[in-house]
Amino acid sequence: MTAPQWDLLLTDATLACFDTSHGYGLREHAALACKDGAIAWVGAMTDLPGPAEALAENVRALDGALVTPGLVDCHTHLVFGGRRDREFEMRLEGVSYQDIARAGGGIVSTVRDTRAADEDALLAQSLPRARALVADGVTTLEIKSGYGLDLASERRMLRTARRIGQILGIDVRTSFLGLHALPPEFSDDRTGYVDAVCGQMLPTLAEEGLIDAVDAFCEGIGFTREETRHVFEVAHRLELPVKLHAEQLSDLDGAALVAEFGGLSADHLEHLSASGIRAMAEAGTVAVLLPGAFYALRDTKLPPIQALREHGVAMAVATDLNPGTSPLLSLRLSANMACTLFRLTPEEALRGVTVHGARALGLKDRGTLAVGQRADLAIWQASAPAELCYWIGGPLLKASYAAGRPLFKAN
Ligand code: NIG
Ligand code: FE
Repeated sequence: MTAPQWDLLLTDATLACFDTSHGYGLREHAALACKDGAIAWVGAMTDLPGPAEALAENVRALDGALVTPGLVDCHTHLVFGGRRDREFEMRLEGVSYQDIARAGGGIVSTVRDTRAADEDALLAQSLPRARALVADGVTTLEIKSGYGLDLASERRMLRTARRIGQILGIDVRTSFLGLHALPPEFSDDRTGYVDAVCGQMLPTLAEEGLIDAVDAFCEGIGFTREETRHVFEVAHRLELPVKLHAEQLSDLDGAALVAEFGGLSADHLEHLSASGIRAMAEAGTVAVLLPGAFYALRDTKLPPIQALREHGVAMAVATDLNPGTSPLLSLRLSANMACTLFRLTPEEALRGVTVHGARALGLKDRGTLAVGQRADLAIWQASAPAELCYWIGGPLLKASYAAGRPLFKAN
Protein backbone atom coordinates (compact mmCIF):
# COMPACT_ATOMS: atom_id res chain seq x y z
CA MET A 1 0.00 0.00 0.00
CA THR A 2 1.39 3.45 -0.91
CA ALA A 3 1.70 6.18 1.74
CA PRO A 4 -1.06 8.80 1.79
CA GLN A 5 -0.13 11.75 -0.40
CA TRP A 6 -1.52 14.47 1.91
CA ASP A 7 -1.05 15.38 5.59
CA LEU A 8 -4.60 16.63 6.16
CA LEU A 9 -7.83 16.26 4.23
CA LEU A 10 -11.04 18.12 5.08
CA THR A 11 -14.08 16.46 3.55
CA ASP A 12 -17.78 17.42 3.19
CA ALA A 13 -16.84 21.08 3.63
CA THR A 14 -18.47 24.30 2.54
CA LEU A 15 -15.50 26.33 1.35
CA ALA A 16 -15.48 30.14 1.10
CA CYS A 17 -12.34 30.45 -1.02
CA PHE A 18 -12.20 34.23 -1.75
CA ASP A 19 -10.17 33.23 -4.80
CA THR A 20 -12.12 35.33 -7.29
CA SER A 21 -12.31 39.12 -7.52
CA HIS A 22 -15.93 39.13 -6.36
CA GLY A 23 -18.12 36.83 -4.32
CA TYR A 24 -17.21 34.35 -1.62
CA GLY A 25 -15.80 31.78 -4.05
CA LEU A 26 -18.23 29.33 -2.45
CA ARG A 27 -17.83 25.58 -3.03
CA GLU A 28 -20.31 23.24 -1.38
CA HIS A 29 -19.80 19.48 -0.95
CA ALA A 30 -16.11 20.18 -1.31
CA ALA A 31 -12.79 18.92 0.01
CA LEU A 32 -9.47 20.58 0.74
CA ALA A 33 -6.11 18.92 1.30
CA CYS A 34 -2.84 20.18 2.80
CA LYS A 35 0.72 19.01 2.42
CA ASP A 36 3.85 20.47 4.06
CA GLY A 37 2.00 23.51 5.38
CA ALA A 38 0.40 24.50 2.08
CA ILE A 39 -2.94 23.83 0.41
CA ALA A 40 -2.36 20.96 -2.01
CA TRP A 41 -5.80 20.26 -3.45
CA VAL A 42 -9.23 21.97 -3.56
CA GLY A 43 -12.22 20.49 -5.34
CA ALA A 44 -15.55 18.72 -5.28
CA MET A 45 -15.97 15.62 -3.12
CA THR A 46 -16.90 13.74 -6.27
CA ASP A 47 -13.53 14.61 -7.83
CA LEU A 48 -11.36 13.24 -4.99
CA PRO A 49 -8.85 10.87 -6.57
CA GLY A 50 -9.71 7.96 -4.26
CA PRO A 51 -11.27 7.03 -0.91
CA ALA A 52 -10.56 9.80 1.65
CA GLU A 53 -8.87 7.50 4.20
CA ALA A 54 -6.29 6.41 1.64
CA LEU A 55 -5.44 9.95 0.64
CA ALA A 56 -4.29 11.59 3.88
CA GLU A 57 -2.75 10.81 7.26
CA ASN A 58 -5.47 12.81 8.92
CA VAL A 59 -9.01 13.01 7.50
CA ARG A 60 -11.61 15.26 9.01
CA ALA A 61 -15.26 15.01 7.90
CA LEU A 62 -16.96 18.36 8.38
CA ASP A 63 -20.61 17.58 7.69
CA GLY A 64 -21.09 20.77 5.67
CA ALA A 65 -19.29 23.11 8.09
CA LEU A 66 -17.91 26.33 6.65
CA VAL A 67 -14.17 26.66 6.06
CA THR A 68 -12.58 30.05 5.37
CA PRO A 69 -9.00 31.20 5.09
CA GLY A 70 -7.59 31.88 8.57
CA LEU A 71 -8.46 35.47 9.45
CA VAL A 72 -5.87 38.23 9.18
CA ASP A 73 -5.99 41.06 11.73
CA CYS A 74 -3.84 43.64 9.95
CA HIS A 75 -3.92 46.46 12.55
CA THR A 76 -3.48 45.93 16.29
CA HIS A 77 -1.66 47.53 19.21
CA LEU A 78 -2.14 44.49 21.41
CA VAL A 79 1.19 44.63 23.24
CA PHE A 80 0.87 47.20 26.03
CA GLY A 81 0.96 47.56 29.80
CA GLY A 82 -1.94 48.66 31.99
CA ARG A 83 -5.53 49.57 31.17
CA ARG A 84 -7.51 52.70 30.34
CA ASP A 85 -10.97 51.99 31.76
CA ARG A 86 -10.88 55.26 33.74
CA GLU A 87 -10.49 57.08 30.43
CA PHE A 88 -13.50 55.18 29.12
CA GLU A 89 -15.51 56.51 32.05
CA MET A 90 -14.22 60.05 31.45
CA ARG A 91 -15.26 59.92 27.81
CA LEU A 92 -18.72 58.79 28.89
CA GLU A 93 -18.80 61.81 31.18
CA GLY A 94 -18.20 63.99 28.12
CA VAL A 95 -14.40 64.52 28.00
CA SER A 96 -13.07 64.06 24.45
CA TYR A 97 -10.27 61.70 23.38
CA GLN A 98 -8.25 64.72 22.23
CA ASP A 99 -8.69 66.55 25.57
CA ILE A 100 -7.63 63.45 27.51
CA ALA A 101 -4.53 63.20 25.31
CA ARG A 102 -3.67 66.89 25.75
CA ALA A 103 -4.01 66.52 29.53
CA GLY A 104 -1.32 63.82 29.58
CA GLY A 105 -3.70 60.83 29.51
CA GLY A 106 -4.41 58.70 26.48
CA ILE A 107 -1.48 57.12 24.65
CA VAL A 108 1.08 58.69 27.00
CA SER A 109 -0.51 57.04 30.04
CA THR A 110 -0.12 53.64 28.36
CA VAL A 111 3.49 54.59 27.63
CA ARG A 112 4.08 54.96 31.40
CA ASP A 113 2.61 51.53 32.12
CA THR A 114 4.39 49.88 29.20
CA ARG A 115 7.77 51.30 30.20
CA ALA A 116 7.22 49.99 33.73
CA ALA A 117 6.64 46.41 32.53
CA ASP A 118 9.58 44.09 31.83
CA GLU A 119 9.41 41.74 28.85
CA ASP A 120 7.85 38.87 30.79
CA ALA A 121 5.24 41.14 32.35
CA LEU A 122 4.42 42.60 28.95
CA LEU A 123 4.09 39.12 27.52
CA ALA A 124 1.89 37.96 30.41
CA GLN A 125 -0.45 40.91 29.89
CA SER A 126 -0.54 40.72 26.09
CA LEU A 127 -0.66 37.00 25.35
CA PRO A 128 -4.28 36.51 26.51
CA ARG A 129 -5.36 39.22 24.08
CA ALA A 130 -3.66 37.42 21.20
CA ARG A 131 -5.24 34.16 22.35
CA ALA A 132 -8.67 35.80 22.28
CA LEU A 133 -8.15 36.82 18.65
CA VAL A 134 -6.95 33.32 17.77
CA ALA A 135 -10.03 31.82 19.45
CA ASP A 136 -12.10 33.85 17.01
CA GLY A 137 -10.33 32.70 13.86
CA VAL A 138 -7.18 34.80 13.52
CA THR A 139 -4.10 33.05 12.12
CA THR A 140 -2.05 36.11 11.08
CA LEU A 141 -1.66 39.11 13.31
CA GLU A 142 -0.06 42.50 12.94
CA ILE A 143 1.23 44.10 16.15
CA LYS A 144 2.56 47.65 16.41
CA SER A 145 5.04 49.18 18.80
CA GLY A 146 4.40 52.77 19.86
CA TYR A 147 3.81 52.60 23.60
CA GLY A 148 7.53 52.50 24.42
CA LEU A 149 8.78 55.60 22.59
CA ASP A 150 12.39 55.03 23.61
CA LEU A 151 14.79 52.52 22.12
CA ALA A 152 14.75 49.96 24.94
CA SER A 153 10.97 50.04 25.43
CA GLU A 154 10.14 49.90 21.71
CA ARG A 155 12.54 46.95 21.41
CA ARG A 156 10.79 45.24 24.33
CA MET A 157 7.40 45.68 22.65
CA LEU A 158 8.61 44.32 19.31
CA ARG A 159 10.37 41.38 20.92
CA THR A 160 7.21 40.60 22.87
CA ALA A 161 5.24 40.67 19.62
CA ARG A 162 7.66 38.19 18.04
CA ARG A 163 7.48 35.95 21.13
CA ILE A 164 3.68 35.90 20.90
CA GLY A 165 3.97 34.58 17.36
CA GLN A 166 6.44 31.89 18.44
CA ILE A 167 4.42 30.81 21.48
CA LEU A 168 1.11 30.61 19.66
CA GLY A 169 2.50 29.26 16.39
CA ILE A 170 1.05 32.05 14.27
CA ASP A 171 2.63 34.58 11.96
CA VAL A 172 3.02 37.94 13.71
CA ARG A 173 3.99 40.91 11.53
CA THR A 174 5.46 43.83 13.43
CA SER A 175 5.08 47.53 12.64
CA PHE A 176 7.31 50.18 14.20
CA LEU A 177 5.16 53.08 15.39
CA GLY A 178 7.75 55.38 16.93
CA LEU A 179 5.77 58.41 15.76
CA HIS A 180 2.72 57.55 17.87
CA ALA A 181 2.93 60.25 20.55
CA LEU A 182 5.51 62.67 21.90
CA PRO A 183 7.05 61.09 25.02
CA PRO A 184 7.12 63.33 28.12
CA GLU A 185 10.93 63.72 28.13
CA PHE A 186 10.67 65.35 24.68
CA SER A 187 7.62 67.51 25.38
CA ASP A 188 9.60 70.67 24.56
CA ASP A 189 11.58 69.16 21.73
CA ARG A 190 9.51 67.66 18.91
CA THR A 191 12.40 67.83 16.46
CA GLY A 192 14.66 66.05 18.92
CA TYR A 193 12.18 63.18 19.22
CA VAL A 194 11.59 62.82 15.48
CA ASP A 195 15.37 62.84 15.00
CA ALA A 196 15.76 60.12 17.65
CA VAL A 197 13.11 57.99 15.91
CA CYS A 198 14.57 58.49 12.44
CA GLY A 199 18.27 58.54 13.30
CA GLN A 200 18.49 55.96 16.07
CA MET A 201 15.41 53.91 16.97
CA LEU A 202 14.19 52.89 13.50
CA PRO A 203 17.59 52.02 11.99
CA THR A 204 18.70 50.11 15.12
CA LEU A 205 15.52 48.06 15.47
CA ALA A 206 15.41 47.39 11.73
CA GLU A 207 19.00 46.13 11.91
CA GLU A 208 17.93 43.81 14.74
CA GLY A 209 15.29 42.31 12.44
CA LEU A 210 12.41 43.40 14.64
CA ILE A 211 10.51 45.52 12.10
CA ASP A 212 8.39 44.36 9.15
CA ALA A 213 6.79 47.75 8.35
CA VAL A 214 6.78 51.36 9.51
CA ASP A 215 3.66 53.19 10.70
CA ALA A 216 2.96 56.68 12.11
CA PHE A 217 0.07 58.61 13.65
CA CYS A 218 -0.39 61.56 11.29
CA GLU A 219 -2.86 63.73 13.20
CA GLY A 220 -3.29 67.00 15.07
CA ILE A 221 -2.61 65.22 18.37
CA GLY A 222 0.04 63.04 16.70
CA PHE A 223 2.61 64.05 14.09
CA THR A 224 2.57 66.39 11.11
CA ARG A 225 2.74 65.40 7.48
CA GLU A 226 6.34 66.64 7.30
CA GLU A 227 7.37 64.62 10.35
CA THR A 228 5.65 61.57 8.87
CA ARG A 229 7.44 62.11 5.55
CA HIS A 230 10.74 62.17 7.39
CA VAL A 231 10.18 58.72 8.97
CA PHE A 232 8.86 57.34 5.65
CA GLU A 233 12.05 58.47 3.90
CA VAL A 234 14.14 56.55 6.41
CA ALA A 235 11.86 53.50 6.01
CA HIS A 236 12.28 53.76 2.25
CA ARG A 237 16.08 53.79 2.58
CA LEU A 238 15.86 50.73 4.82
CA GLU A 239 13.58 49.06 2.24
CA LEU A 240 10.75 48.71 4.74
CA PRO A 241 7.13 49.15 3.60
CA VAL A 242 5.07 51.94 5.13
CA LYS A 243 1.50 52.35 6.34
CA LEU A 244 -0.26 55.14 8.18
CA HIS A 245 -2.89 56.10 10.75
CA ALA A 246 -4.45 58.66 8.43
CA GLU A 247 -7.46 60.96 8.47
CA GLN A 248 -8.92 59.54 11.70
CA LEU A 249 -9.84 62.78 13.49
CA SER A 250 -9.01 65.35 10.79
CA ASP A 251 -7.73 65.54 7.21
CA LEU A 252 -3.95 66.05 7.04
CA ASP A 253 -3.77 64.48 3.57
CA GLY A 254 -1.90 61.51 5.05
CA ALA A 255 -3.46 58.95 2.70
CA ALA A 256 -1.91 60.70 -0.32
CA LEU A 257 1.44 60.73 1.47
CA VAL A 258 1.42 57.01 2.20
CA ALA A 259 0.27 56.40 -1.40
CA GLU A 260 3.19 58.51 -2.66
CA PHE A 261 5.53 56.04 -0.92
CA GLY A 262 3.69 53.08 -2.49
CA GLY A 263 2.49 52.24 1.04
CA LEU A 264 0.70 49.08 2.07
CA SER A 265 -2.28 50.75 3.73
CA ALA A 266 -3.89 53.89 5.05
CA ASP A 267 -5.91 53.15 8.17
CA HIS A 268 -9.00 54.72 9.83
CA LEU A 269 -9.87 57.25 7.04
CA GLU A 270 -13.03 58.82 8.47
CA HIS A 271 -11.90 62.22 7.12
CA LEU A 272 -10.44 60.93 3.83
CA SER A 273 -10.81 63.36 0.89
CA ALA A 274 -11.61 62.64 -2.76
CA SER A 275 -8.01 63.34 -3.77
CA GLY A 276 -6.77 60.96 -1.06
CA ILE A 277 -9.01 58.22 -2.48
CA ARG A 278 -7.69 58.80 -5.99
CA ALA A 279 -4.09 58.64 -4.75
CA MET A 280 -4.77 55.37 -2.92
CA ALA A 281 -6.48 53.86 -5.95
CA GLU A 282 -3.53 54.73 -8.19
CA ALA A 283 -0.95 53.37 -5.75
CA GLY A 284 -2.91 50.22 -4.85
CA THR A 285 -2.82 51.24 -1.17
CA VAL A 286 -5.36 49.28 0.90
CA ALA A 287 -7.96 51.14 3.00
CA VAL A 288 -7.97 49.58 6.48
CA LEU A 289 -11.30 50.24 8.20
CA LEU A 290 -11.38 50.23 11.99
CA PRO A 291 -14.99 50.31 13.12
CA GLY A 292 -14.03 49.43 16.71
CA ALA A 293 -12.37 52.82 17.20
CA PHE A 294 -15.25 54.57 15.43
CA TYR A 295 -17.66 52.83 17.81
CA ALA A 296 -15.66 53.33 21.02
CA LEU A 297 -15.14 57.03 20.29
CA ARG A 298 -18.83 57.32 19.36
CA ASP A 299 -17.67 58.93 16.15
CA THR A 300 -20.32 60.05 13.67
CA LYS A 301 -18.23 60.79 10.58
CA LEU A 302 -18.23 57.70 8.39
CA PRO A 303 -15.31 56.79 6.15
CA PRO A 304 -16.25 57.36 2.47
CA ILE A 305 -17.10 53.72 1.76
CA GLN A 306 -19.06 54.26 -1.44
CA ALA A 307 -16.30 56.38 -3.00
CA LEU A 308 -13.67 53.81 -2.02
CA ARG A 309 -15.82 51.16 -3.69
CA GLU A 310 -16.28 53.23 -6.84
CA HIS A 311 -12.53 53.77 -7.14
CA GLY A 312 -11.80 50.08 -6.63
CA VAL A 313 -9.74 50.63 -3.46
CA ALA A 314 -9.39 47.31 -1.60
CA MET A 315 -10.92 47.57 1.87
CA ALA A 316 -9.56 45.59 4.81
CA VAL A 317 -11.16 45.42 8.25
CA ALA A 318 -9.16 45.11 11.49
CA THR A 319 -9.68 45.35 15.25
CA ASP A 320 -7.25 48.20 16.04
CA LEU A 321 -7.06 46.36 19.38
CA ASN A 322 -5.63 48.99 21.76
CA PRO A 323 -6.26 50.12 25.34
CA GLY A 324 -7.67 53.54 24.46
CA THR A 325 -9.89 53.68 21.43
CA SER A 326 -10.59 50.04 20.62
CA PRO A 327 -10.39 47.48 23.44
CA LEU A 328 -11.87 44.97 21.01
CA LEU A 329 -10.87 41.33 21.22
CA SER A 330 -12.75 39.89 18.25
CA LEU A 331 -12.01 40.39 14.56
CA ARG A 332 -15.37 38.83 13.73
CA LEU A 333 -17.05 41.54 15.79
CA SER A 334 -15.08 44.13 13.79
CA ALA A 335 -16.52 42.56 10.63
CA ASN A 336 -20.00 42.76 12.14
CA MET A 337 -19.44 46.45 12.98
CA ALA A 338 -18.08 47.10 9.48
CA CYS A 339 -21.44 45.89 8.16
CA THR A 340 -23.70 47.53 10.73
CA LEU A 341 -21.88 50.85 11.18
CA PHE A 342 -20.08 51.29 7.83
CA ARG A 343 -22.57 49.46 5.62
CA LEU A 344 -20.11 47.04 4.13
CA THR A 345 -21.74 43.95 2.72
CA PRO A 346 -20.86 40.75 4.62
CA GLU A 347 -18.90 39.73 1.55
CA GLU A 348 -16.83 42.95 1.67
CA ALA A 349 -16.31 42.63 5.41
CA LEU A 350 -15.14 39.04 5.08
CA ARG A 351 -12.84 39.88 2.18
CA GLY A 352 -11.59 42.60 4.52
CA VAL A 353 -10.51 40.10 7.19
CA THR A 354 -9.08 37.58 4.72
CA VAL A 355 -7.72 38.43 1.29
CA HIS A 356 -7.62 42.22 1.74
CA GLY A 357 -6.29 41.95 5.29
CA ALA A 358 -3.43 39.88 3.88
CA ARG A 359 -2.86 42.40 1.11
CA ALA A 360 -2.69 45.20 3.70
CA LEU A 361 0.31 43.36 5.15
CA GLY A 362 1.89 42.76 1.76
CA LEU A 363 1.23 39.01 2.06
CA LYS A 364 0.23 37.24 -1.14
CA ASP A 365 0.51 33.71 0.20
CA ARG A 366 -2.65 33.73 2.32
CA GLY A 367 -6.17 35.09 2.62
CA THR A 368 -7.62 32.72 0.01
CA LEU A 369 -8.18 28.98 -0.24
CA ALA A 370 -6.26 27.95 -3.32
CA VAL A 371 -3.57 25.44 -4.19
CA GLY A 372 -0.14 26.72 -3.15
CA GLN A 373 -1.44 29.10 -0.47
CA ARG A 374 -0.37 28.68 3.15
CA ALA A 375 -2.67 26.23 4.88
CA ASP A 376 -4.13 28.82 7.27
CA LEU A 377 -7.67 27.58 7.78
CA ALA A 378 -10.64 28.36 10.02
CA ILE A 379 -13.45 25.83 10.45
CA TRP A 380 -16.68 27.34 11.73
CA GLN A 381 -19.87 26.32 13.47
CA ALA A 382 -21.71 27.92 10.56
CA SER A 383 -22.81 26.90 7.12
CA ALA A 384 -22.95 30.23 5.25
CA PRO A 385 -20.26 32.95 5.17
CA ALA A 386 -22.62 35.78 6.13
CA GLU A 387 -23.21 34.02 9.46
CA LEU A 388 -19.70 35.03 10.51
CA CYS A 389 -20.75 38.69 10.37
CA TYR A 390 -24.30 38.12 11.55
CA TRP A 391 -23.70 36.52 14.97
CA ILE A 392 -22.56 39.11 17.50
CA GLY A 393 -20.08 37.26 19.69
CA GLY A 394 -20.37 33.61 20.60
CA PRO A 395 -17.93 30.74 20.14
CA LEU A 396 -18.28 30.11 16.41
CA LEU A 397 -14.81 28.77 15.73
CA LYS A 398 -14.57 24.98 15.81
CA ALA A 399 -10.91 24.66 14.86
CA SER A 400 -8.13 26.41 13.03
CA TYR A 401 -4.82 25.52 11.39
CA ALA A 402 -1.75 27.70 10.86
CA ALA A 403 0.49 26.54 8.01
CA GLY A 404 -1.24 23.15 8.25
CA ARG A 405 -0.58 22.72 11.98
CA PRO A 406 -3.49 22.55 14.44
CA LEU A 407 -3.83 25.95 16.12
CA PHE A 408 -7.19 26.16 17.87
CA LYS A 409 -9.71 23.50 18.85
CA ALA A 410 -13.04 24.22 20.53
CA ASN A 411 -13.79 22.23 23.67
O1 NIG B 1 -5.36 53.45 16.26
N1 NIG B 1 -4.71 56.69 16.96
C1 NIG B 1 -3.66 56.22 17.36
N2 NIG B 1 -3.50 55.01 17.82
C2 NIG B 1 -4.55 54.20 18.31
C3 NIG B 1 -5.04 54.66 19.61
C4 NIG B 1 -4.04 54.42 20.62
C5 NIG B 1 -4.44 54.77 22.03
O2 NIG B 1 -5.35 55.60 22.27
O3 NIG B 1 -3.81 54.17 22.90
C6 NIG B 1 -5.65 54.03 17.29
O4 NIG B 1 -6.81 54.43 17.48
FE1 FE C 1 -4.32 52.06 15.50
